[in-house]
Amino acid sequence: MSFRAQPAPIARPNRCQLFGPGSRPALFEKMAASAADVINLDLEDSVAPSDKDSARANIIAAIGAVDWGSKTLSVRINGLDTPYWYKDVVDLLEQSSGRLDQIMIPKVGCAADVYAVDALVTAIERAKGRTKPITFEVIIESAAGIAHVEEIAAASPRLVAMSLGAADFAASMGMQTTGIGGTQENYYMLQGGAKHWPDPWHWAQAAIVAACRTHGVLPVDGPFGDFSDDEGFLAQARRCATLGMVGKWAIHPKQIALANSVFTPSEAAVAEAREILAAMADAKARGEGATVYKGRLVDIASIKQAEVIVKQAEMLAAS
Ligand code: COA
Ligand code: MG
Repeated sequence: MSFRAQPAPIARPNRCQLFGPGSRPALFEKMAASAADVINLDLEDSVAPSDKDSARANIIAAIGAVDWGSKTLSVRINGLDTPYWYKDVVDLLEQSSGRLDQIMIPKVGCAADVYAVDALVTAIERAKGRTKPITFEVIIESAAGIAHVEEIAAASPRLVAMSLGAADFAASMGMQTTGIGGTQENYYMLQGGAKHWPDPWHWAQAAIVAACRTHGVLPVDGPFGDFSDDEGFLAQARRCATLGMVGKWAIHPKQIALANSVFTPSEAAVAEAREILAAMADAKARGEGATVYKGRLVDIASIKQAEVIVKQAEMLAAS
């Protein structure tokens, strides 16, 4: 138990983050018209090395030219192990309009990676008189990233969100799979001769949620690669929501509605949470700290659990 209050993350919808390559500007208007809460224009791994300069120019032009509505507009820069990242940051912040909200830093391995980008962004904001501070999101997608996840979550006041990037994470960990998220055929338990499949991503997700909640950062699940498998996407998204994550990436537009459906608390869940709050208000009026709701114990901790759901629903309704 700590005397410190757990910091609240930024109050904004983050149910679905839609990605699109900076080298396919024909997608930008479609992305802006979508139902995703966050738009991630990509300069990193969906853009070929020969297209890096043109993709950067496409994105800088589109930030000001496209009507992004009330969406959070984020650009994924290249990793700090590449020759591209400094130019991504400098050109974006010197040349794009003030509409840009956020920079996504991939393959973060330690807090100093975030510090380095923060120093550069801060200097350019001051030099250019940019009045809206750029926020950061990071991807945990390496062994070093997960080993240092807590210091990374605390690395900068700009940091508002953190995602698990399953593909690079699997590669860095030496995992024997080419799957991007979801069930892995060889990760099974046997019981009575029958196989069942636990979730190999679970521990990394739980570590990210704990680091994020400690430091007031939104935890998000990254890509689910097989965009023809809606049931697989839903299963993974539901597990993430149960663990405390607030949203998931879409790497194809058909995944947006799936993510929104999972990360918007259902009417039934909100109604039940409100009933629990009402039952506890009655208990409090009777001078009791615990009571029975539908045959099960509810107590003062149940108020906090119910408030997670009600507050999320109210934040989404207000946005
Ligand atoms: N955002 C918005 N619209 C998209 C889109 C995206 N990311 N990807 C495809 N679309 C549009 C297509 O333009 C097409 O529109 P139309 O019906 O008006 O013609 C429609 O959705 C269906 O697209 P489809 O033909 O199924 O996909 P595709 O072959 O054009 O592209 C991908 C498939 C996976 C290559 C593409 O979705 C993509 O690049 N995704 C993002 C990849 C990425 O950014 N990765 C980095 C993060 S992991
Ligand atoms: Mg990656």
